[in-house]
This record gives sequence, structure tokens and C-alpha cells, in this order.
Amino acid sequence: MPEQLSEEVSAEQSLQETAASAETAVSGASDLDALAELRVKYLGKKGAITAVLRGLGQLPQDARPRLGRLANEVRDRISAQLEEREEFLKRKSRETRLAAETMDITLPGRPVPIGRRHILAQTDRRVKEIFVGLGFEVAVGPEMESDYYNFEALNIPADHPAREMWDSFYLGDGMLLRTHTSPVQIRAMERKSPPLRVVSSGKCFRRDAVDATHSFMFHQLEGFMADRNVTFGDLKGILITFAREMFGKDRKAKFRPSYFPFTEPSAEMEIDCFACSGEGCRICHTGWLEILGCGMIHPRVLGRVGIDSEEYTGFAFGMGIERIAMLRHGIDDIRLFFENDIRFLAQF
Ligand code: PHE
Repeated sequence: MPEQLSEEVSAEQSLQETAASAETAVSGASDLDALAELRVKYLGKKGAITAVLRGLGQLPQDARPRLGRLANEVRDRISAQLEEREEFLKRKSRETRLAAETMDITLPGRPVPIGRRHILAQTDRRVKEIFVGLGFEVAVGPEMESDYYNFEALNIPADHPAREMWDSFYLGDGMLLRTHTSPVQIRAMERKSPPLRVVSSGKCFRRDAVDATHSFMFHQLEGFMADRNVTFGDLKGILITFAREMFGKDRKAKFRPSYFPFTEPSAEMEIDCFACSGEGCRICHTGWLEILGCGMIHPRVLGRVGIDSEEYTGFAFGMGIERIAMLRHGIDDIRLFFENDIRFLAQF
């Protein structure tokens, strides 16, 4: 075979082989980097096609156009294949990414654990809400009190045996942790003159041994009303209304005589058990539930804050928030409120 002819044949052969191997390689390229390498390998300056194009000059005149055209065709075909493959790979990677990022908006959401108010806070709110509905305003007082507000002003002088009703945590300097919320009555009456309708709640502290019904820290809600012509009938009316709102509209109430140094007369209010309607059950034992202490504000207490007890009278009451919550929800151990066991708290 003449030399030139053989060169022509081998150039053509080289082009065909390049075309075939490029086709296989391109269709097998699995990512864009591999594709970029193939582009360099087949179409780059050192590629087979460039070599053939460069060598055209050495070929016989009449073979040049055919081989030139062939080389261009092969180059265009490979270029088209590369582009097609690139399109395909890009589309595929986009699809893969979209598939991975897809969210099924019909799936139920993951439950987000939300908190709730502590059962004591809920009870406190409810009680206050009822009294606010009856025209009472809400006041706050300090947890650290002076002996004067906690006792003296409430008609409990230093040597009074009634001090034993409240075993106190003394802080020194005539200060103590308040044993009840009654001092807020004094503070409210000092601030404003009657007519007054005030409720106030918060932490109280007593040196009690902890058991199912005692805690050294607990919550009380106090209320009082002072105005001209306030009678024990008003006390009963307000407190029975409260009891019915809190424990059911059919509640019956009774008032047993009691003693508090700052009220006269004093009473304990009982309601018929909402759980058994007075039959006697696990919660009430007797059919009756004691829910609060109350009475007519002692004239000496009024006098102490400069209110003329000839012109004005008032009633006051105090209840344990824990006790109200325990009765309301059948809880039999006060310690449960303070242990913060989520299994307990989540029930309310
Ligand atoms: N402060 C009293 C107590 O702690 C309760 C009470 C308040 C009684 C107001 C009468 C009037 O036991």
C-alpha cells in the first residue's frame, strides 16, 4: 500500500476508534468531573481529533476534504454527546437533590412538647379570676415581712398565745418569712381608704414538719372587703358565690365558729363535698370540706391602720391554694406539687 494511502487509512481509523471509544466513555461518565476530563481527552489540544486535523497537511490533497470533514463530524458528534451527557447528569443530580429535600406535607407533624402552667398557678389564677369578677382588685405583698405586719398589726402581740398558730422562720432584725398572706390586708388598707375589695396571693412559710398535708412553703390567697355597712351576710354572699364558681353551682355551704386574732367573729367555711355531694367519700370522709378561714375584720385591726371602725366594717378570708387544688383534683399528698415530676404535672 502506498505510504500516503496508508496514512490516510490510519487517520480515518484513528478517527473512527476515537469516535467509538468517546461514545462509550461519555455514556459511562458518572459525574461532571469525569465528563470534563473526557472533554479534554477527546477534544483537547492533545486529543486524537486535534492530531488528525493537524496532520491534514501531510495527507494527499484529494483526501484532505474528506478527512477534514470526517474529523469535524466526529468532533461535533463527541461534543454533542458530551453536552447531552452533561444535561443528563445535571438533571439527574438535581432530581436526586430534590428527592432528598422533598418533604411530605401530608405527614403528621412531630409533636412539640409544650409546657403548661403549674397546677398551683392554674388554681391561683382561677380563684383570682372569680374574685376579680366580683369586683376585687389584685395586690401583691412581700414574702419577707416584718413582725409588725405579720403579727402586731393583725392584733397578735409578741406575748400572744395565738403566735403558736404560726410557727415562724425568723430572719433576725424583726423580720421573718411571712406565715400567711394577711399582712397584705394591712398594707392595702394603709395605702388606700375604703371602699376596698382586694385579693392577694403568694408564698407563705411555716416551720412545719413535711408530710402529706404540711409543707414548710405553701401558697395562700387572701381577700378582704371594707366599706360602710359590710356585714357577715356580705361575707357569706361573696364566699358562697366563690365556692359555687369553683366547685359547682349546687354547692351548699356552712360556717363553723373559729378563732383568728384579726377577725371577730371568725369562722371556717365548709362546703358539701362536690365529689360525693355530701355522702362521705375518699376526699371528704364526712361529706363536708373545709375550704377557708374568714371573719369580720377586728375593729382593732381597722383602728391600727387609721380606719374608723364605727364608720367602716369589713370581712376577710384566707385559703390555701394547695388545699383548694387538692380538693378540686383529688390530690392526696401536698408534696406532689413541689417534686416537679412531669408525670404528675402533665395531668393538669
Ligand atoms: N391568715 C389566716 C391563716 O393563715 C387565714 C385567715 C385570713 C383567716 C383572713 C381569717 C381571715 O390561717
